[in-house]
Amino acid sequence: MRFLVVSTLLVFGFSFIKTEVVNSFSTCSDFFLNGQPPVIPGILKNSVSQDNNRYKLICQKYQNAYKFATLYDTQKKIPVFSAYRYTGSYKGRPHIPWMIEPQLETYGDAMREPCVNQAFPGDYWAQKSTLRRNLTRGHFFPNCHAADRITAESTFTLTNTAPQYDSFNKGSWNKTEITVRTTMNSHCRNKSDNISAYVLTGAVPSKANLLNKRVNIPSSMWTVFCCYNSKTSTWESQAHWADNKDEQNEEKTINATSVTELQMFMKKTYGSAPTLFHGVDCTKI
Ligand SMILES: *[C@@H]1O[C@H](CO)[C@@H](O)[C@H](O)[C@H]1NC(C)=O
Ligand SMILES: *[C@@H]1O[C@H](CO)[C@@H](O)[C@H](O)[C@H]1NC(C)=O
Ligand SMILES: *[C@@H]1O[C@H](CO)[C@@H](O)[C@H](O)[C@H]1NC(C)=O
Ligand SMILES: *[C@@H]1O[C@H](CO)[C@@H](O)[C@H](O)[C@H]1NC(C)=O
Ligand SMILES: *[C@@H]1O[C@H](CO)[C@@H](O)[C@H](O)[C@H]1NC(C)=O
Repeated sequence: MRFLVVSTLLVFGFSFIKTEVVNSFSTCSDFFLNGQPPVIPGILKNSVSQDNNRYKLICQKYQNAYKFATLYDTQKKIPVFSAYRYTGSYKGRPHIPWMIEPQLETYGDAMREPCVNQAFPGDYWAQKSTLRRNLTRGHFFPNCHAADRITAESTFTLTNTAPQYDSFNKGSWNKTEITVRTTMNSHCRNKSDNISAYVLTGAVPSKANLLNKRVNIPSSMWTVFCCYNSKTSTWESQAHWADNKDEQNEEKTINATSVTELQMFMKKTYGSAPTLFHGVDCTKI
């Protein structure tokens, strides 16, 4: 087994993450506000998948600890969302190979390329040379929201990414990740002055825009947080979403909106509106 993993690493340059595909997010409920994951019509309800063959729940475990959670669409081969708790940020970017999730593949398949149920590094290499620079692995739980190096490493798994236009990833979306981080750093302090915010970052899949004829290139990305601000004694939240598209030569800024507006935006995709947070009023911006 170890030999196979090592030789696969040498040949393909990727490694495996020892994480957990679970039946219920109750296994890693800490990453959700009040321990309750979103309700997404037809996809996720009461912490369980509404279509178990397609939507897999992953408690992303790294070095023996749960680091975040991902709801993964094995048909589109991108996440529906990743959920995490933001507690401050580590400065830097670890240099580790991208990992894949062997538990999403049936026995033996994980050693082969391409993976059946998830994106793999070869999907990104297969871009035609003219497109090569355009699509990149866009993080859901971003490296720049990880509290420490080990958590940052844990985000480098293909199940935490979707193809993003490089200019969007480095441009307005990166700017949004940094602005949201700054907002959480100041607004999400608890009584002992520690930062604590619940974040969800997801994608709206495109109808048929595919990378390497396999991996959905999402039409848009969204991100939302909710936290208790002990200075004002209120729950605060903020949502952002934007089209995933080439934005060369544009200085784009993605405006902040409310959780309610994001839920209405998502309704267009899911038929009825999801409930992103439960138990507290996360409607205040
Ligand atoms: C890819 O990027 C180049 C510039 O680097 C641009 O001219 C081209 O339109 C982009 N292609 C797509 C499909 O976005
Ligand atoms: C995101 O923006 C920050 C601040 O401008 C910069 O330091 C960082 O390199 C950017 N990250 C990416 C992936 O472009
Ligand atoms: C504040 O947040 C920290 C880190 O998230 C946590 O360990 C601590 O228990 C919290 N304290 C209070 C008073 O909520
Ligand atoms: C809470 O904040 C204090 C002071 O900044 C820090 O020393 C401590 O490590 C933090 N605790 C957690 C659990 O983040
Ligand atoms: C974003 O906010 C700015 C400043 O408030 C405003 O001028 C602009 O029209 C807004 N953009 C969109 C797309 O709503």
